[in-house]
Amino acid sequence: MIVGSGGREHALGWKLSKSDLVEKVYYASGNGGTSLNIDINPTDFKSLSKFARDHECFTVVGPEKLLESGIVDFFMEEDLPIFGPTKRASMLESSKIFSKQFMNANNIPTANFSTFSDVEKAKDYVVRQKDRKLVVKADGLSGGKGVVVCDSSDDAVKTLDSMMIHNRLGNSGQRVVIEERLFGEEASYIAICDGKTLQPLASSRDYKRLYNGDMGPNTGGMGSYSPTPLINEDIDRKILEKIMRPAISGMSSQGKPFRGFLYAGILVDHLSKEPVVLEFNVRMGDPECQPLMTRMNSDLFEYLQNASEGRLDTMQPINWTVHSAVCVIMASKGYPSSYSSREIIQGLTDIRGTNVAVFHSGTLRDEMGNVLTNGGRILGVCALGPNVYEASEKAYSEVGKIKWGQDAQYFRNDIGKSTLPN
Ligand code: AMP
Ligand code: GLY
Repeated sequence: MIVGSGGREHALGWKLSKSDLVEKVYYASGNGGTSLNIDINPTDFKSLSKFARDHECFTVVGPEKLLESGIVDFFMEEDLPIFGPTKRASMLESSKIFSKQFMNANNIPTANFSTFSDVEKAKDYVVRQKDRKLVVKADGLSGGKGVVVCDSSDDAVKTLDSMMIHNRLGNSGQRVVIEERLFGEEASYIAICDGKTLQPLASSRDYKRLYNGDMGPNTGGMGSYSPTPLINEDIDRKILEKIMRPAISGMSSQGKPFRGFLYAGILVDHLSKEPVVLEFNVRMGDPECQPLMTRMNSDLFEYLQNASEGRLDTMQPINWTVHSAVCVIMASKGYPSSYSSREIIQGLTDIRGTNVAVFHSGTLRDEMGNVLTNGGRILGVCALGPNVYEASEKAYSEVGKIKWGQDAQYFRNDIGKSTLPN
């Protein structure tokens, strides 16, 4: 059973359904691209766990919010198999203050920072930093809206007012981290963890900005690819030795063993060329999951099951196709502000072939079997190719076949076109 309803969850279920060990994949509550959708609200742990017991499910959780709410703890108390971190281990993402202090305590490289719960002290600090470039981060989960990269101290003061006085992010913004702004290139580094050891996935990166050339507002992600040349062998080794392994052993020695997908948002500093952690997430990335699942040759289920039982050390390294994968997100025109809904999506049946896959996010199916738009980000069109550029060309030729409404779709044109700095 996959819990969640986005493109990440569709891609996880698609990959798991290929395992000989998996009979059926249920989705709670899925979307228009997934079958066997269960009509249970994912926050209703009691009904979910009953379903899991009745149908002998192994459960995989997508969204961080449910992890923070303790879905894994609930299932474990009921003795039901589940893959994901406990509520306490989820603090690596659900509290930026915890996460930054944890990194410092374990010598994990990250930007210098201070934490504040008093807005006046925070503003004083910002003013005293003079011209230093700063980033303001809400402590709690904020659905991707909690980080503001500031160009000036004025900017930072306005951000503090908005988070701590005007409560733009509710409780999440009552405490903040203020950190130095770093410059460099970014990548996503994700591993499957069993509390003691880890198995790294291939490297990937996502595109957060709405417009070509990384302009415009932040979004849930407008595209992604894997692997990224930024993570060469040397950087990969450093990420494992200086970041991922210390994180796993640090969490374990704090009595919060980390079982689940551990995702480090990495920046390779433009001066030192060293990898630094921008943030930890406690789940798979969306849309990084889509190209990763497209490239994975090994049986994902075996890894998740062994990880949930603490036996990841018995597994061989994960095998990946040497081909690259690119995922282009098709969104409703107007996203992330206002956009139309319930448009019929045309062209989906024209997408065929072993080297392409379309993962749904904001879609639903009507009684007639039509797939309708139902949100901001609608589809992730993925393609494999001998390199990122060719995978991108292939993905865009498939994107061109899909339409809805009166020219109501939007996508970036430059996903995977260049693997130079974003
Ligand atoms: P986070 O959610 O912490 O990864 O932040 C979201 C985005 O904000 C990152 O992908 C970066 O682009 C940017 N960011 C976060 N922290 C910093 C930093 N210290 N310096 C520069 N950019 C940052
Ligand atoms: N792709 C960024 C995230 O999943 O948080």
